Amino acid sequence: MINIPKGTKDVLPQDAYKWHYLEDTAREVARLYNIREIRTPVFEHTELFLRGVGDTTDIVNKEMYTFKDKGDRSITLKPEGTAGAARSFIENGMAAGLLPVKMYYIIPAFRYERPQAGRLREFHQFGIEVYGAAGADADAEVISCAALFLDRLGIKGVKLNINSIGCKSCRADYNAALKNYLRPRLGEMCATCRERFEKNPLRILDCKEEGCKAVTRGAPRILDYLCGDCAAHFGKVKELLTESGLEYTVDPDIVRGLDYYTKTVFEFVSDNIGAQGTVCGGGRYDGLIEELGGNPTPAVGFAVGLERLLLLMENSGVPFPADEGPEVFIAGMDERSRAAAFGLVGRLRKSGVSAECDHMGKSVKAQFKYADKIGAKYVIALGSNELECGECNIKCMADGSTRAVKLCDVCECFKS
Ligand code: HAM
Repeated sequence: MINIPKGTKDVLPQDAYKWHYLEDTAREVARLYNIREIRTPVFEHTELFLRGVGDTTDIVNKEMYTFKDKGDRSITLKPEGTAGAARSFIENGMAAGLLPVKMYYIIPAFRYERPQAGRLREFHQFGIEVYGAAGADADAEVISCAALFLDRLGIKGVKLNINSIGCKSCRADYNAALKNYLRPRLGEMCATCRERFEKNPLRILDCKEEGCKAVTRGAPRILDYLCGDCAAHFGKVKELLTESGLEYTVDPDIVRGLDYYTKTVFEFVSDNIGAQGTVCGGGRYDGLIEELGGNPTPAVGFAVGLERLLLLMENSGVPFPADEGPEVFIAGMDERSRAAAFGLVGRLRKSGVSAECDHMGKSVKAQFKYADKIGAKYVIALGSNELECGECNIKCMADGSTRAVKLCDVCECFKS
């Protein structure tokens, strides 16, 4: 037997309704925010992620599914959705159209990580990206969109943590201060952090090694180094979140695992799904479009991990709407009425009614049992009597009541 690759999961037919619920809710929230969908390829040129996500990140250094295609091009399965959306924004000249451009995506993403609860090698994200709006109101709108998505799903107890990691200019001052603090302590830090020290010291704050965490606990805080513009921007984001009734905590340790962020960064975190508690992450990334060859364009967005969300909903007993069975099951008692059932099911489906009949040669009793198991709301049993008098009984499975209807009126009867 060939098994499923490590870190991937099948969604089985009996569970698909949960995914549909998540995806339908995501699309509904996007509609409420006037956000259109963007679909980009599952793979991109590797260069996009090197430049977009950043060559000092774990994603790029350790986790990408990269391969040469038959034309000797380096191709990577997308590890996240932002870089592809940004590439498409530039390539399709969206900056010349109506701004802001607001788009969402529901995508598979691929990272070669060590699998554990809530951490997979193929996972799915619902993300939104907003291009062209520099103001704090765009940050607050994006955060409120993620919050509404969680709220619509009935998820409670997820904490919103926010931070600002400043712009290029305040980051330079901060990096210098951070490096001054870290330099004499480098010996106590892991090899990866020592490597990051020169190229991207901010990433050191995200290290999960105990030794490194102990060192960074006393490090200078980026919030103390924000320039006037970044500090005012962050102040406004906080004001607008409060105005929207969203509770948040300022967490100066959030730096995020991707290099493109500027100013606001945020995470929605749960303590109900184990070590991988971040269900949503995002922030502003005003430098990415320029980095990828476009004109400077402010941008902000988030992505929610759908597997983590599902895990959270299951762990905390958040209900899913019931998986619907067919509206009606048509049972056939003998050869002729089974053929009639087959025909009637076809006519029902044509008129838009979800209908089912037996394909396994089951007895009438077994057909009724089966109809009950698959959650059919009504059952009609056809036999020679029904075919001769042209009338049948519609049995309601919920209360057992029956109603006589002419065979030629059955479709009309079920059309809502
Ligand atoms: P990220 O924090 O790397 O951000 O991923 C966003 C979410 O995807 C995480 O919070 C988590 O729920 C989920 N996730 C990440 N890796 C895994 C994994 N291996 N298994 C299961 N779930 C995972 C981004 O991807 C950014 N592109 C978000 C963004 C959009 N920022 C601005 N716009």
